[in-house]
Amino acid sequence: MKDTNYNNNLYNLQIILLFMDLLDNKEKDKKERHYLEVIRRPKQEVSMCTCGHSKTLPLCDDSHREINEQQGTNYKSFKLYNPSNETIIDKVYCSNWKKPEEKKE
Ligand code: FES
Repeated sequence: MKDTNYNNNLYNLQIILLFMDLLDNKEKDKKERHYLEVIRRPKQEVSMCTCGHSKTLPLCDDSHREINEQQGTNYKSFKLYNPSNETIIDKVYCSNWKKPEEKKE
């Protein structure tokens, strides 16, 4: 059975992918950074990846569990909780993240 965080992450991922599609994934600042948005719904939590191996960056997809087993590491996701009654949209960026692939026709 999938847990609530996983389902939240999938929901948020869908929104992120939709957003990326709509903007052709080219929302940039002066430094040509490609930000992703994390949409945090009221009173809900999202799991953020710290290991860098998630296929759904910046969200955790539990890939760290396999990495921990293989490499003897102890990666854990960290949680962002939105205590307010408003939706919060964070823009996140990491220089280790690769640019998403260009859309193929
Ligand atoms: S997949 Fe990276 S911390 Fe979970």
